[in-house]
Amino acid sequence: MPPPKPADTVPPEVAAVSDYEPLACARMEPGAWAYYASGGADEITLRENRAAYDRLRLEQRVLVDFSRPGSTAVTLFGQTFEHPILLAPVAYHKLAHPEGELAVARGAAAAKAGMVVSTHATYPLEDIARAAGAPLWFQLYIKPDRGLTRELVERAERAGYRALVVTVDAPVTGVRNRQQRLHFKLPPGVAAVNLPGESPMGGYGAKPGTLAAGSLAQAPTWKDIAWLRSFTQLPILLKGVMAAEDAARAAAEGASGVVVSNHGGRALDTVPATIEALPRIAERVGGKIPLLVDGGIRRGSDVLKALALGASAVLVGRPYLHGLAVAGSAGVAHVIELLRGELEMAMILTGKKTLAEVDRTVFWRD
Ligand code: FNR
Repeated sequence: MPPPKPADTVPPEVAAVSDYEPLACARMEPGAWAYYASGGADEITLRENRAAYDRLRLEQRVLVDFSRPGSTAVTLFGQTFEHPILLAPVAYHKLAHPEGELAVARGAAAAKAGMVVSTHATYPLEDIARAAGAPLWFQLYIKPDRGLTRELVERAERAGYRALVVTVDAPVTGVRNRQQRLHFKLPPGVAAVNLPGESPMGGYGAKPGTLAAGSLAQAPTWKDIAWLRSFTQLPILLKGVMAAEDAARAAAEGASGVVVSNHGGRALDTVPATIEALPRIAERVGGKIPLLVDGGIRRGSDVLKALALGASAVLVGRPYLHGLAVAGSAGVAHVIELLRGELEMAMILTGKKTLAEVDRTVFWRD
């Protein structure tokens, strides 16, 4: 029996972002679910991304004067967002909902959230831009064919995308045993339509001989960041940075921002949680460029913790896919609204009126 179609109305029993997960699982094909849910190898980093947030304890404050209105607004690269929660680039939204990225763009607009559109989107990037109420950012995989890569960047720029998020942690696909065991393949009608002629899900990156085969000769390097800089006006963020050394180099090489990310625990297993890597990176970068972080954010209090440890904004991945699978654009908007409401509550109870006030004083100190 095929899974039920998304209902496009928010189920009344959903009270928290995590409530969408089992509902989405029940609606999706097992292979597609494994593709969304899986992490790398033994999924240790996947679990850590979440667990590390739970270990951080907050300190509640009382009797704070909130008579003057506060705000969750943040300005990034000249663009002001009402709140600091963005949608991470995730491939193949049609696996969750027939309207895919178009529904996500509408949901993001309704929740006033920035959206980063994946290179592996299942709708043309121009159509997604039109569906959104506000300018979007484009996530770029630097492809072996640099001509195709440049065309993609130029298309995104022409379509009004405001920033380029270059994902740098995937010269090979991580070991994804969970989806591999189910022999997951993209179903007919689901493809990376912005990459004509490519079949991006070509296999899994654990084949012996990969290093020697020369197939990595076209893998991106720092030179490619300078190359991108040479022809695009867009701010360039590097996504997938976990080493302080790399973050410092990104700033030195002219990147406008860094996304501290381990690809949602899908790349190299046993790297630390992103929230654990963030403070060291923040210290090293010293405020030269804004840092964003993703991975494991499921509560508004997680957003507060990320901001307190040096992020200017956060991205969420799987949660909005779950909302999409269950309730289309309404589900996407609801996920963001839940997180935003919880963030505001956490700010109030830690005595913070604006994001600029959010710092390490939100944490419990022994
Ligand atoms: C991703 N991610 C990702 N990143 C990217 O730069 N381009 C992409 O196409 C994809 N595709 C993708 C597919 C799926 C199914 C997942 C779960 C993730 C990574 C994504 O941008 C982000 O880093 C993580 O999803 C953040 O972790 P959480 O919020 O899912 O825990």
